[in-house]
Amino acid sequence: MTSDSSQPGEARASGPSVADVLKTDSRGVPPPLMEQRYEFLGDSDIACTRYTSRAFADLETERLWARCWQWVCREEHIQEVGDNYVYDIGPYSVIVVRSGQDRIQAFVNSCTHRATRLRGSEGGGYSPRITCPFHGWSWSVEGKLESLPARWDFPHVCDESHDLQTVKCEIWGGFIFVNLDPDAPPLAEYMDVLPEHFRHFPLEQRRVRLHVQKTLPANWKAAQEAFLEAYHNFETHDAPNGANAQYDVFGKYVSRFIHNIGNYSAEALADYPGDKWRDPPLTENQLLQILSVFGLEREEVPAGETARSVAAQDLREIIGKALGVDLSAASDSLMLDSIEYHLFPNMFFFPGITVPMVYRFRPNGDDIDSSIFDLMILEPLAEGAKHPEPPEPHKLNVEQSYTEVEALGWLAPVYDEDTGNLDLQQRGFKASRKPGITLGNYQEARIRRVHLTLDEFLQK
Ligand code: FES
Ligand SMILES: [Fe+2]
Repeated sequence: MTSDSSQPGEARASGPSVADVLKTDSRGVPPPLMEQRYEFLGDSDIACTRYTSRAFADLETERLWARCWQWVCREEHIQEVGDNYVYDIGPYSVIVVRSGQDRIQAFVNSCTHRATRLRGSEGGGYSPRITCPFHGWSWSVEGKLESLPARWDFPHVCDESHDLQTVKCEIWGGFIFVNLDPDAPPLAEYMDVLPEHFRHFPLEQRRVRLHVQKTLPANWKAAQEAFLEAYHNFETHDAPNGANAQYDVFGKYVSRFIHNIGNYSAEALADYPGDKWRDPPLTENQLLQILSVFGLEREEVPAGETARSVAAQDLREIIGKALGVDLSAASDSLMLDSIEYHLFPNMFFFPGITVPMVYRFRPNGDDIDSSIFDLMILEPLAEGAKHPEPPEPHKLNVEQSYTEVEALGWLAPVYDEDTGNLDLQQRGFKASRKPGITLGNYQEARIRRVHLTLDEFLQK
């Protein structure tokens, strides 16, 4: 059963809401987590060709990827002057460089002589100057043309016209963002509530523990949409929770879900098939058992406590000690919940402590049917500690399983489940006689928001 409403988008799952659960927290909950913002965005189908058509992908290349803000790497990827990082998006390529102790710049990764890529592959490197591998023109790390062999043959070249082509570059939360559009509005204008919300969850005070980069067998939008809702939890993950997750759409560019971990509502599963987890409902001890993947100390819930309070308390101590950070004031919600912010078009930031991910989904070159999924685990860094050098990404091809990355632990089979439907969906887009996909009004509103904002980019 669901709570009925005459207005589309107002119905919700039965049972306690996320806001109800947050009220029972053993600590003060950060104010952004108490906010709720939803509006009905329509219920028409979304055309399958948006995921499969060459013409649509080409339009995205020209009008989206050449104009939107996107992160390249973390600041700590380029710690020393001369460190650089190459980022590829579709046909475009950018080099970000630490050009001074407190200065980071971005350039088009293409020579101003005959356009050769200055650095061949994506990823980090170091060079005190940038030299083209073809004829050896070279530039300072600030992008100034410094050396031009056989200068006598190029009287028409002046430094200003042949300095490296600059790209807009800004920093937020320890991430280096670029925008290929010289006329793009500042990053801050694009971030809606993110700066205000993440004042409570400073991502610059985090370190990259793990980076996994996998090729996925679906269009970049389908791939990220598998992570924009928790509606799939019951069928895909065989998991009891997620049915009463909270979904917020804060504006054109930012949305969020909060999905409580360590509790669930049997009522919220009222119209799911079978009696699983409803008859009888899970006990607090069984819920704690599910959380044992986190490596908790206790196996039983003492009288007067809940699985959630026990797990949060154990994790404050275990993670606090392991990382040398004081988590004594961290709310149960921040300790446990899957809190996922999305920044248009393709970036996800999780402020949680135990579930601390960052995702990025992008096209795989010019292949419409596959995408690249970057997953980082971003754990808290002790106050005053220097950022360690981030680990190199583990690269997985389409066939490889996340279980090959041992450090992912319990998350590996979950990501295999999440990504296991993508090939079926991408092929299903092409097989469908029904011309579009259908979305839930509430649980899948974030997917619709991305498509609406994408249309604004594509129409310009
Ligand atoms: S193409 Fe780069 S130096 Fe000639
Ligand atoms: Fe999932």
